[in-house]
Amino acid sequence: MVNHKQAFDEIRAVIGDRLSQKDADRDQHGQSETWHRAPPPEAVAWPETTAEVSAIMAICNRHGVPVIGWGTGTSLEGHALATHGGLVMDLMRMNRVLDIRPEDLLATVQPGVTREALNTELRATGLFFPIDPGANASLGGMAATRASGTMAVRYGTMRDAVLALEVVLADGTVIRTGTKAAKSSAGYDLTALMVGSEGTLGIITELTLRLYGQPEDVAAAVCAFASMEDAVNCVAMTMQAGIPMARIEFMDAVAMRAVNLNSGTSYPEQPHLLVEFNGAPATVCNDAEAFGEIAAEHGGQGFQWASSAEDRKKLWEARHAAYWATLKLRPGATGVVTDVCVPMSELPGAVAAAAADMAQAGILGNIVGHVGDGNFHTLLLIEPGNAEELARAKEVANAMARRAIAVGGTVSGEHGIGIGKRGLMAEQHGQAWQVMGAIKAALDPNNILNPGKMVPDRN
Ligand code: LAC
Ligand code: ZN
Repeated sequence: MVNHKQAFDEIRAVIGDRLSQKDADRDQHGQSETWHRAPPPEAVAWPETTAEVSAIMAICNRHGVPVIGWGTGTSLEGHALATHGGLVMDLMRMNRVLDIRPEDLLATVQPGVTREALNTELRATGLFFPIDPGANASLGGMAATRASGTMAVRYGTMRDAVLALEVVLADGTVIRTGTKAAKSSAGYDLTALMVGSEGTLGIITELTLRLYGQPEDVAAAVCAFASMEDAVNCVAMTMQAGIPMARIEFMDAVAMRAVNLNSGTSYPEQPHLLVEFNGAPATVCNDAEAFGEIAAEHGGQGFQWASSAEDRKKLWEARHAAYWATLKLRPGATGVVTDVCVPMSELPGAVAAAAADMAQAGILGNIVGHVGDGNFHTLLLIEPGNAEELARAKEVANAMARRAIAVGGTVSGEHGIGIGKRGLMAEQHGQAWQVMGAIKAALDPNNILNPGKMVPDRN
């Protein structure tokens, strides 16, 4: 701690009172959106330039102070909790859109720009940025967690969206990865390495992102099914038929109830698919018809079309709020949220098994999913501090994760590892997890970047 005081004094000499050790600031940066908890960090810094980030990193590296990057604090697996103490680096003051290149379909932004802020900025250009996790997250945080959302089925995830990065390494060195070219075969793909590294390899200070033209026509609809099985089988068949869905989201009856209560909608409380088609008018019409036929074969009923832009906005806002809406079903509850992704042919089996486990655990919760990717979540509502409920919820979560591994899937499709999934890394990756540890040791020999996360403990 003596060392840390020295480090904080040195940082203050660089950024003045943009370093805080006040309880209110520390508490705000020790929050978690889910059940994960840790003591607050020792201090919070708000750098405004890459040079400041670099200077802070160099100081922390010299003194062995842990540094945890922070965006909107909306990650779901405790990624940004200061489990080993140290400094939280809040990047939200680096929030400028630096460059928009419509002719190249690219934007370059600072890490604190949120996905909604970027889209507001893009509105007049006819372009948009499609990656949309539930929260209005920062783009730096989204890159760090390799986030996705409801449009990944069509536009991919942050893996596909990030073309280039500026990253500050543990010792303060500033590097650039990637280029503005659409592809490159020049060397190791360090952009891909940094995307999803959850702040363990560097601090992202600039991102170049791929944009898309706003589709000429958009049609969205909700459709109810008699059973979850029917809805999920309909998804598998739709994807196998190659219909280019822009969105195909599953919500179970509990999620629909939560959304109705939260958003003032009145959907029937039964399993639903929420779908969207993007393209030229004729394409959208054909795709919607093809989907309609498959849905009808699975008993899909009561198609409600959201044809105006405003109706669609309401529909997807309601979907994005599903996590917080469901939390409200049990006042005071906190959430254990799971996130697995499996090959499409395994989706119906995986969802059915998760539902059976949830029923057996007897904990109120929902199932929602970005099912066009084979990605789904359960959200289990537990009483904060109730160890017995937590254990039952974790059992459901772990069983889901292990089943996903067994059928060739992953323990996280989009939420990431944080502290919640680290215990499953060895099971999923085997010896490759040690390789991740070796990379971390090479880039961060003093283990100051988000220590205790992602890779095996160092001996
Ligand atoms: C969602 C978040 C939980 O899909 O990923 O709502
Ligand atoms: Zn999700």
